[in-house]
Amino acid sequence: MKKQVIYFFGAILSTLFLLSWVSVNNKSNESYITPALDTSSTKAARVGKPISPDLFGIFFEDINYAADGGLYGELIQNRSFEYSQSDKDAWNNNRNWHSLTAWEFTTKGYGYGTISVETKSPLSANNPHYAVLNVEEEGREGVGLTNLGYDGIVIRAGEQYDFSVFVRQLSDKSIPLQVSLQNKSGTVFGEANFSTQTKDWKKYSAIITATHSDDSAKLVIVAKGKGKIAIDLVSLFPQKTFKNRANGLRPDIAQAIADLKPKFMRFPGGCLVHGDGLGNMYKWKNTIGPVEQRIEQRNIWNYHQSAGLGFFEYFQFCEDIGAKPVPIVAAAVSCQNSGGTWRIGGTGQRGLPLSEMKAYIQDILDLIEYANGPATSTWGAKRAAAGHPRPFNLEYLGVGNEDKITPEFRERFKLIYDAVRAKYPKITLVGTVGPGPAGEDYELGWKFADQLAIPVVDEHYYENPEWFLHNNLRYDTYDRSKSKVYIGEYASQGNSLYNALAEAVYMTAIERNGDVVRMASYAPLLARQNYTSWNPNLIYFTGVKVCPTVNYYVQQLFSTNQGDIYYSNIVSFPVKAGLRDSPLAVSCVKDSKTGDIILKLVNAGSIATQARADLSGFGQINPKASRTFLSGPPLAEDNLANPQNVVPETSDFEAKQSFVYDVPPYSLTIIRVKTNSNRKASH
Ligand code: AHR
Repeated sequence: MKKQVIYFFGAILSTLFLLSWVSVNNKSNESYITPALDTSSTKAARVGKPISPDLFGIFFEDINYAADGGLYGELIQNRSFEYSQSDKDAWNNNRNWHSLTAWEFTTKGYGYGTISVETKSPLSANNPHYAVLNVEEEGREGVGLTNLGYDGIVIRAGEQYDFSVFVRQLSDKSIPLQVSLQNKSGTVFGEANFSTQTKDWKKYSAIITATHSDDSAKLVIVAKGKGKIAIDLVSLFPQKTFKNRANGLRPDIAQAIADLKPKFMRFPGGCLVHGDGLGNMYKWKNTIGPVEQRIEQRNIWNYHQSAGLGFFEYFQFCEDIGAKPVPIVAAAVSCQNSGGTWRIGGTGQRGLPLSEMKAYIQDILDLIEYANGPATSTWGAKRAAAGHPRPFNLEYLGVGNEDKITPEFRERFKLIYDAVRAKYPKITLVGTVGPGPAGEDYELGWKFADQLAIPVVDEHYYENPEWFLHNNLRYDTYDRSKSKVYIGEYASQGNSLYNALAEAVYMTAIERNGDVVRMASYAPLLARQNYTSWNPNLIYFTGVKVCPTVNYYVQQLFSTNQGDIYYSNIVSFPVKAGLRDSPLAVSCVKDSKTGDIILKLVNAGSIATQARADLSGFGQINPKASRTFLSGPPLAEDNLANPQNVVPETSDFEAKQSFVYDVPPYSLTIIRVKTNSNRKASH
């Protein structure tokens, strides 16, 4: 409610700005004014400047159940019994969160026994907890465990599911086990049977075909004989994962991400990278290899990371969607907010002891070898063993995530930076300049970046839409001789069309400054409904639905209409545009692969206007152009709980060398024109 009032006043303000421009500048509707920044002479401006080919990508962090219970295809929650009270901080304490969360002890048909969670003889020391089922009387239907998935398990009739479990027989006799998919009232929708074979840990697998569809099914494993067994890593995967990969991804969410056509993907975060205290730092080596040997850990967002979606899966996904991988490693310091520093005196930022830096740096060098080394190298061999002998072609590596720029940070960052540059000079390192668009860490971060000549630095900002309109000139004055910028996280604090258009205005400025801004990614990407610890997000989902927001469509329209050459002075408005606070913005880029000229026209205000485009410098124009248009109610939030269905629509557009286009209020228009232009950019 409060938010809507803010947006309402925001919209009124932007309207007033626009009205005042109209009265000052719109003396005659005939005179068109080129956006304020395009001041260079027409001829010179039309030469075009090369811009980053990697501009628009995605930021993935396991926040809001983005990985487990989200993109990762596993249907069993808490499959290794590793959930623990320590996953939660003091403010998120939850009595129902423990090693048997999402599990129920199942004793139907007069059976009885006990269930416990033990650690004495685990399947792997990395995965210490397992369930022990002691069946004293199996009754008619057996005694066992039921997993409830994430808000239930979604199954589809006729689909096949890969079930597997590790079992150790603790009593003498073999025990028959039955595993079934059931609906809430216990009707069986598919089952498999097997018997324990050994007193050692052994993996048992079966394919279960679902006979019915159900959005809230459960997986029931029961022992149908007396005795004692240990159970660990209970897994259920749909065979249909994204690109049918084993240990793969939920296809509908993965496809929504793929449809963004991101040029790069940052992973695994965010604050998740540097972690809540040194012990919580993300360690990539813990996340590769057989899933039963991966090391699970607390998620800084107050839940649990199974590490099933680990670095191999991230790299593989990047390759599958044509995105350059941008892994981020901690700069050997923990998050400055560790231990809830912002609420009470927490532990704050801590640096890894210097005596541990050698090993830590080696881990980072090993990551590069894992991604790029030959299959014969130590770490390249592990990648090959996972099924990918070819390198993943890593180009970028981020070090640090919006860290406080302290002497401890600087010392550790420099050690990492020097070591990576010495061994892998071709890797583009991305530094960090604090959590906000200005302030002490931003200043100190930039000073430090200047000193080290860090190739790219990571800026973050979550601000209101007016901030984005007000700051659309931010990069026009950046020193081109300094570090390039990766806007690693940004969002305008809402999922309304107005928010998305404010972001679109800003994205035209990113394109205009694509010579200094190398990459940009909206954040966060994903949120499971009812599990959000952060809003807004780009895509919301439940177990069955995936709902892209209007912000998603703006990202998609920019990403799928990227160019590599930027042209000034192609489009003009009757009022001044492209000024600080202006709701009007335009960009013109060329995609040199196709020769297409792409115009993006944004009106984040409530007044219709006209734009005049002059494409005469681009040679012959193919009149058969396309127009993609996004508009709708400006202030309503557009998310899963409240879908507005504001989606882009593409239609034919008749292009001419020079034309006037009516720009409706609250709209984004993309006009894509084919030319025979072979003009080169100036270098
Ligand atoms: O995107 C959510 C969080 O915002 C990220 O984890 C962190 O880097 C930033 O503060």
